[in-house]
Amino acid sequence: MIYTVISYIKFLIKSTNRHGVHSPFVYNFISIGLNAKRKYLNKTFQDFIYFKEQLIDDKSEIIITDYGSGSKHFKGNIRQISDIAKYAGISDKKAKLLIRITAYFKPKIILEIGTSLGLSTSILAKNSQAKVTTIEGCPNTSETAKKYLKNLNYTNIEFITNKFDDVLPMITQNNTFDLIYFDGNHQKEATLNYFNQCLKTTHNKSLFIFDDIYLNANMQEAWRKIITHPKVSVSIDLFHYGLVFFRTEQPKQHFYLRTNS
Ligand SMILES: C[S@@+](CC[C@H](N)C(=O)[O-])C[C@H]1O[C@@H](n2cnc3c(N)ncnc32)[C@H](O)[C@@H]1O
Repeated sequence: MIYTVISYIKFLIKSTNRHGVHSPFVYNFISIGLNAKRKYLNKTFQDFIYFKEQLIDDKSEIIITDYGSGSKHFKGNIRQISDIAKYAGISDKKAKLLIRITAYFKPKIILEIGTSLGLSTSILAKNSQAKVTTIEGCPNTSETAKKYLKNLNYTNIEFITNKFDDVLPMITQNNTFDLIYFDGNHQKEATLNYFNQCLKTTHNKSLFIFDDIYLNANMQEAWRKIITHPKVSVSIDLFHYGLVFFRTEQPKQHFYLRTNS
């Protein structure tokens, strides 16, 4: 927590808004994507809140199988759905950002690494033209996400219940993705391993989004390694998310951006 707070202060000093940005690609992303006021974005956020409130109202308990870095909020392996939604699911602030990012780039073929109860999945799958594959290791958590998202009439989500390590080699074999959302097992080696495996699925317009890049010094190290990878051209540090692009026409450049959203 202290690491994240100190990092945020440093980030505020380093970061800029769109006026400090010379790349048209990044400038347009900020002005049209991140800062624009759009009614349909509000509607997507309301739908997200509606789903989240359903989960928060659900006081039933499930047994958790944890293949990740553990949780600072929970002890033991029996958890209320309500608590998982509050502590493991995407925050409202990040949800707003993710809604804006996906509405701007319009990814169609999406992979999510870390479903939990499906809160972020619901945002990624909002565009019914998109096809989302989402991976979750805990069978009871995955089942709960499946049940809720089916009730909400999502038909464009494929749920994979398995350990990331076991399933990623197969998923990354012959697929390309427009967007990969990395939100599970926030440890340096694991994150770098998933990143390296997923590199072979990229095309020129692919986007990788990393959650929790400021969780601790190890995750910062992972993020630094990712952005220096030769295949990465543009990288954007939004503090809440790290964004990585592979556009060959773009010189390698890293941005620290403050957002209004
Ligand atoms: C932070 S939560 C995902 C939150 C979700 N994306 C959201 O915003 O609503 C991370 C999830 O990844 C799962 N997970 C962590 N490490 C895993 C691993 N090695 N294999 C499979 N699942 C894993 C956890 O069970 C947890 O549900």
